[in-house]
Amino acid sequence: MVNALIILCAYLIGSIPSGLWIGKIFYKTDIREHGSGNLGATNTFRILGKKAGIIVTVMDVLKGTAGVLLPLLPFFQETTIHPLILGAVAVVGHMFPIFAGFRGGKAVATSAGVLLGYTWLLFVLLVIVFLISLKLTKMVSLTSMIAATVALIYSIIYGIVIGEWALCILVAVLFFFIVYRHRANIQRIKNGTEPKVTWI
Ligand code: G3P
Repeated sequence: MVNALIILCAYLIGSIPSGLWIGKIFYKTDIREHGSGNLGATNTFRILGKKAGIIVTVMDVLKGTAGVLLPLLPFFQETTIHPLILGAVAVVGHMFPIFAGFRGGKAVATSAGVLLGYTWLLFVLLVIVFLISLKLTKMVSLTSMIAATVALIYSIIYGIVIGEWALCILVAVLFFFIVYRHRANIQRIKNGTEPKVTWI
């Protein structure tokens, strides 16, 4: 019972469509009808600007962190579900949100939040990689996939050195989610039509 409830809770937290709600409530705009059509932080920055973009980024990251930390709540302490599985469920909620017609984001910010909740050191490393890569490529999508690749390499080395493979399995799953959700971006990168940011 506790296990079913905690999974449901992780999914519902991940399902909170920050970009959609912030856009609709404060800007009377559905960001899915503009830009890339994605319900994520990048498209929020693109369509609604810096302030909304930062708020949505923080909210989307915290959804992943909240998923991982759910077992700390007194009511959920009996759970036998691994925190990383709950993080992955929150990411699934983010990609397929029940509160937004199952049309969600591309898994990047919420996946980062999962890592923040489980191993903050990797999160910090990825933020640094992200900023350097974005400076060089100017493409958020490519940068997201580069950061996901670095996370995968780190987690494989971590598995070999520490002998604990849960993180590696989780990161491999998140890597798959991220690359799969960026199919259209990959096509645009190949065609040379992927939008670039100008502010970095
Ligand atoms: O986090 C999503 C980002 O990598 C790409 O977003 O809107 O440019 O497709 P977008």
